[in-house]
Amino acid sequence: MTLSRILRLAALAALVALAVAACKREPTPAATTAAPAPKPQAAAESGDYDEHSYAEPDKVAIDDLALDLALDFDARTISGTATYTLDWRDDTATALVLDTRDLTIERAEGEGAGGAWQPLQFELAGRDDLLGSKLTIQAPERNARIRVSYRTSPEASGLQWLEASMTEGKATPFMFSQSQAIHARSWVPLQDTPRVRYTYSAHVTSPVDVMVLMSADNDPAAPRDGDYSFRMPQRIPSYLMAIAAGDLVFKPISARAGVWAEPSTVDRAVAEFEDTEKMIATTESLYGPYRWERYDLLILPPSFPYGGMENPRLSFITPTVIVGDKSLVSLIAHELAHSWSGNLVTNSSAKDGWLNEGFTSYVENRIVEALYGKERADMEYVISRNGLKSEIERMSPEEQALAVRPGVVKDPDDSLSAVSYDKGAWFLQFLEERYGRAEFDAFLRGYFDHFAFQSIPTTRFVEYAQEHLLGKYPDKVTPEEFDAWLYEPGIPGSAPQVMSRNFGVVDSARLAWLGSGTLPPQSITGEWSTQEWIHFLEGLPDTLSIEQLSQLDTAYRLTGTPNAELAQRWYPLAVRSSYMQTYPAIADFVRTIGRRKLIMPTYQALVATEAGLAFAKEQLEAARPGYHPITTGSVEKLIAEAKPAPGSGTPFLPAAVEPAAVPEADVDAEAATPAMPAADGDPTRPAPTGR
Ligand code: BES
Ligand code: ZN
Repeated sequence: MTLSRILRLAALAALVALAVAACKREPTPAATTAAPAPKPQAAAESGDYDEHSYAEPDKVAIDDLALDLALDFDARTISGTATYTLDWRDDTATALVLDTRDLTIERAEGEGAGGAWQPLQFELAGRDDLLGSKLTIQAPERNARIRVSYRTSPEASGLQWLEASMTEGKATPFMFSQSQAIHARSWVPLQDTPRVRYTYSAHVTSPVDVMVLMSADNDPAAPRDGDYSFRMPQRIPSYLMAIAAGDLVFKPISARAGVWAEPSTVDRAVAEFEDTEKMIATTESLYGPYRWERYDLLILPPSFPYGGMENPRLSFITPTVIVGDKSLVSLIAHELAHSWSGNLVTNSSAKDGWLNEGFTSYVENRIVEALYGKERADMEYVISRNGLKSEIERMSPEEQALAVRPGVVKDPDDSLSAVSYDKGAWFLQFLEERYGRAEFDAFLRGYFDHFAFQSIPTTRFVEYAQEHLLGKYPDKVTPEEFDAWLYEPGIPGSAPQVMSRNFGVVDSARLAWLGSGTLPPQSITGEWSTQEWIHFLEGLPDTLSIEQLSQLDTAYRLTGTPNAELAQRWYPLAVRSSYMQTYPAIADFVRTIGRRKLIMPTYQALVATEAGLAFAKEQLEAARPGYHPITTGSVEKLIAEAKPAPGSGTPFLPAAVEPAAVPEADVDAEAATPAMPAADGDPTRPAPTGR
């Protein structure tokens, strides 16, 4: 499909949307409605419209936000005020529409010309499951500042409150936010759309033994006194609002980078992430200056539902990547890369998520290549592309396209697939290959500079690429090739192929073992990195015999591995193969880790049988108090939608497996030495199963 055809179709879609909107009656005030305001025609045509927000930023937009908040760990609430400095853009506008979810709104006030605050009428609409409740504040005087007094719910979707017992130190409670995609509205009433960017400041009080941090100017030397002030002078979209509080201490990595973590974790984290400064310098040399002053990492408890979150100046990081050998630090490269792709140039709606995640995955790989070499970068590309290929097979053609056309409202927490990340990165690698690295690097640098601190839809990128690449060098990439990457399903035939030498060895070793039962010798596997083990596991058949699993387990101590990337692949295989010895370790794994990517594959394998489903339900109930609401939601959905065949699966009977050491298998004596890359540098650590 050609670009002009796409524009014509988008225009048509906009006309249809307008016609449909015109036919709808205005909802009565008490009605619950999920329908955001009809999209303005120009916005709909360009795709610059966000259906995940009720806000009407073309009428009035938040310019600055000042928070005054109190954290209450007993009540699990945040309460206080949000004061907005407003930019009234439309002369006829007299109302401020905000997004909220499960907030109690106590008061709305407007500042008069003389500085006095007067009450304003407001209305909180019914709750939509996805979007929350629209808050409409009437401001006939178009006040320059409006203030809302509010309180969060203990069930706020964007916050997790952890009892002290769920932290490393066991002495101090912990709380943190996860605002992306649309959870900021559950802890601050906001125009919760990335189309709006604002500066913010905050005054936060907490119990005195708790350190509070935000996605702002955290001071490594701030006294821990329960009274904290922050300022974020760069404009950010709402999904980058972040707060965390707990027993957190700071250790520097360099003059502008460091780690915040619980005291018992901070040294391990500093050692694991010691290359952070080099990563910043490398990215600057490729794409221009780091524009956010400090870059710190905050290590969260293992319940954090993601691997990382690019909160500006303070990336939130799962502890599951601290494995002792720096093998999983591409996650840091990824979150850092967002300081250019995402935080500086931002997708204007979750639909254009590939502008954030695809660009970031590409930049991540470039950082990995610069610091750890081409082979490591290639291995990481092969792993992610194998994942993309298997995910894409199960997707509808529409889902396989990088850029989504306007019209469909989906939960944005579910809308970021491997397509956004890996097909997105692949597209940019294709452009790099065609235009040459020097030219493409200069293009990207120019793109980050041109759109710095702006939020844009895919169409703006397309226009920019038209002018600076396609139009400039017409013989390199045809418009049809460019369009196919953006709007067609599948992987275009023009995709560059990446091969990994190391994976060739892994493939031969796996094949040889499957054929002959002889495991590769320690002289080979001893050199394998996490990436090679991942590839070894991913290439195994869907199920193996108990003898085969035991042989692998004895040789490599997979059950109970402290490397969660390997556990993520091993346990589903064990479940599918009814290898019951792993079940106690599986319970331990899914109860202690809340990172969705790591545990969902195991839950998925479990719910495929009736016995597995019962086991999965048991784990969810045990884990529930420690799970983040996002993880609970995902697991609940999986369990609710499960359709196992009656009587299927092997029930887990603890007594039957407890004493069962993994049977001695016929392994090559050399191979029997534990060879896995392990956390804390101790590959002989007994697994939690007691083996
Ligand atoms: N921004 C994302 C996390 C995110 C995306 C949260 C969409 C909510 C909605 C973050 O940068 C990310 O991509 N994290 C990945 C890291 C990985 C690709 C290296 C993760 O958590 O697994
Ligand atoms: Zn990301």
